[in-house]
Amino acid sequence: MKIDHALLTTLRKYLDEMMYSLMDFRLSSHLEMSLLGFPTIQSLRRAVQQLDAPHNVLFRLFRIGESVDDAAVRSALPASVFEALVQLELLIPGKTSEWRTPSLLIVPAEGLYLLVSIPPIYSTSTRLCHTGFEVSSSIMTRALPVSCSGLRVLDIGSGSGLHALLCARRGADSVVGLERNKEAVSIASANAILNGLDGKVEFRQSDKLAALAESERFNFVLCNTPSSPMISGEPSSLEEIGNAVLFDLLEKLPAYLQPRASGLLAAWRCFGFQSHTYQLEAVASQLAKEGFSTTAYVDRAPNTVESILRVLQTEIERRRRSYRADTDAIMKRVREQLRQPGKPVDGAYNQLIFIERGQNEARGQIRIYPLVAATNGHAPHAKQSPAAETTNHFWIRPPLGGVAPIQTRIQ
Ligand SMILES: C[S@@+](CC[C@H](N)C(=O)[O-])C[C@H]1O[C@@H](n2cnc3c(N)ncnc32)[C@H](O)[C@@H]1O
Repeated sequence: MKIDHALLTTLRKYLDEMMYSLMDFRLSSHLEMSLLGFPTIQSLRRAVQQLDAPHNVLFRLFRIGESVDDAAVRSALPASVFEALVQLELLIPGKTSEWRTPSLLIVPAEGLYLLVSIPPIYSTSTRLCHTGFEVSSSIMTRALPVSCSGLRVLDIGSGSGLHALLCARRGADSVVGLERNKEAVSIASANAILNGLDGKVEFRQSDKLAALAESERFNFVLCNTPSSPMISGEPSSLEEIGNAVLFDLLEKLPAYLQPRASGLLAAWRCFGFQSHTYQLEAVASQLAKEGFSTTAYVDRAPNTVESILRVLQTEIERRRRSYRADTDAIMKRVREQLRQPGKPVDGAYNQLIFIERGQNEARGQIRIYPLVAATNGHAPHAKQSPAAETTNHFWIRPPLGGVAPIQTRIQ
């Protein structure tokens, strides 16, 4: 798509006029939710059929991702909006006198308009998707501070820009989003303009922290880690298997963070035992050296150990297509790690890790809470009033209530 301030502003005004978010909210009361917390496409189609013609066309194009015939599009959209969408390349010609989007939806999320890819989940080793929108995005959203006033935010792996933009909307002084995927950087930049937040948020193409200047400092960091790669080299310990991007940037990250910085780091699908994972231990101990305390919100991942190993094998094979022997050797080593005496593994866990610098009494401790505690507005790290009952219906709604820690470990 093209980035053009005036054209994106025309689109925003039209979405406002059409009360796109409100209409989406109303539709939601008719929708069946899938187990992932997203509406099923069938129920969305049924609900959209009941809308008046302009909303029907708008929602078919940008909420469901259908092709719509030329005559219907031209009679539904004002000429200036149609022209803007074509020039932005958000409407492209379909097969036979039809229009469709370049696989981009507009999803209202927490008061933002968000351009996201179809399917709205992130790239894996088998599927390409530039800007996703999935359960992990939703979990992170719910754990964000209600007020970001005074924060200089760094969002690593910013994807659609959802969290960077939410922090800006919630009063952050400035936000930098780093993202490796060029297409995602451009979509996130469009999302910034679409939401009138481009003055505060900057998205840069970057492999991990590479695009930061040495002098840059932040006091709030976010990182919703990609599920691939799971390893960066040839892992010699269980700690190195899980979220390679996060693991690899831990050493350099503290230098960019201020003395009283905090942040939320996601580490999905890590091997562990009884709600405690080896990668979490490594993250906490690395960051403790730099003065951070760690609180982890943990839930069992639905994956089996074997299914994770299959994903890992695919990842290694893709990386080293011509070195079959290496794949076997690495997998053998990983399996040996999983059988080590003294390092029991009873499955994999998803974790949202809250880090905070300058809390000396808690330094070296890992407090572990159920993941739901991070997202229901009663998280021990949430210093503000709960964000749980926000206006957006699109997200999963976890139950309310205070939650006690599962365990506290001393490093
Ligand atoms: C799980 S997605 C999270 C996106 C967004 N923060 C969210 O929660 O919706 C992970 C993102 O990290 C990006 N990414 C992967 N490897 C990266 C790297 N080495 N440096 C920067 N970004 C990376 C991916 O392109 C993807 O957009």
